[in-house]
Amino acid sequence: MIDTELLHNEFERRFGHRGTAYTAPGRINLIGEHTDYNGGFVFPGAVEQSITAVVSPNGSGVVNAYAMDLQLEASFAIDDPQGPTQVHLRYIYGVVREMLAAGVAVNGFDVVYGGDVPLGAGMSSSAALECCFAYALNDLYGGGRLDRMTLAKIGQATEHKYVGVMCGIMDQFASMHGRKGSLMRLDCRSGEFEYFPWQPEGYRLILVNSCVKHELVGSPYNDRRRSCERVAQMAGVETLRDCTWQRLEELRPRLADEDYRRARYVLGEKDRVLAVCDALQRGDYETVGRQMYMTHEGLSEDYEVSCDEIDFLVDEARRSGVSGSRIMGGGFGGCTINLVRNELCDAFCTAVRQNYRSRFGIDCQIVPVVIGDGARRL
Ligand code: GLA
Repeated sequence: MIDTELLHNEFERRFGHRGTAYTAPGRINLIGEHTDYNGGFVFPGAVEQSITAVVSPNGSGVVNAYAMDLQLEASFAIDDPQGPTQVHLRYIYGVVREMLAAGVAVNGFDVVYGGDVPLGAGMSSSAALECCFAYALNDLYGGGRLDRMTLAKIGQATEHKYVGVMCGIMDQFASMHGRKGSLMRLDCRSGEFEYFPWQPEGYRLILVNSCVKHELVGSPYNDRRRSCERVAQMAGVETLRDCTWQRLEELRPRLADEDYRRARYVLGEKDRVLAVCDALQRGDYETVGRQMYMTHEGLSEDYEVSCDEIDFLVDEARRSGVSGSRIMGGGFGGCTINLVRNELCDAFCTAVRQNYRSRFGIDCQIVPVVIGDGARRL
């Protein structure tokens, strides 16, 4: 987490008084990728990396924001029907507008914010930003009236309506509900969830950030979602959660091959999440790891959201004897998540650093996972 005093000092320097600090984290996801918008299960946990904002209402109808990391300052009126165009401000503007729509009388405020969730790493820096602001504005203007799930949905609606990413609920859910030391299993259809204490005896989770993000033309994330919706519609079910293998095979002759492969991945991932839950009950982490590798294969070959750099990182993990490895998050770059036996950690990190550098000329970043708390006032 970024040093909150730095933000307080900058806030005081700019606005002449102290504000209140709020923070919301990024997330990891053990398994259940691209299942949230298909009504399936996800297995995320909040991480220690987060976005922190120092905020103070100013009663003027205008938001004055300074982004420390980007060294950008900007203002916008909250009743401006278009809102700002810079992406990082769209998140704030969207949250403000959605809070207003939910009946929280947000007025103007001054804010300085920053954080340490790596951008484009698949660790949900944008959800952390949305949740930090949603939590803060609910506390400052709504007396904490809206519950955490409602705030998560406000973050998701911000992505849909103001940024144009038709994401599921996983990232905002995790950022709002995270609990130190626990992963969460969320049923994205019913909204029910459970905490799972995460203390894998003898293993560690390590992220390897490829430090690449391939911005493809168009919106490949939304395309994946549309494929899934097409298949669900043809199968006569609301989401792929309710589509069986048999039904998918019956439909196959009428489906575009690409849509078929997307759905095949999603159905496989549904089975893998259940297998992982079972294995976790038994403390069988080798099985958890094997399922992670299978998820990667599906994401790479059928869902086609991986890339050369990430496939290389997963192959490196396999070569080093790592128990499980796969791409994490939306895809097209970012991180791999690795389940590593303690005694292998050092050798794996050294090997992956060296080999990635010599293959791509890029330094990857090793990020040990520490499961932290969700959005809160500091
Ligand atoms: C992004 C989205 C999530 C989820 C993941 C893939 O992080 O924001 O809703 O779909 O991709 O699992």
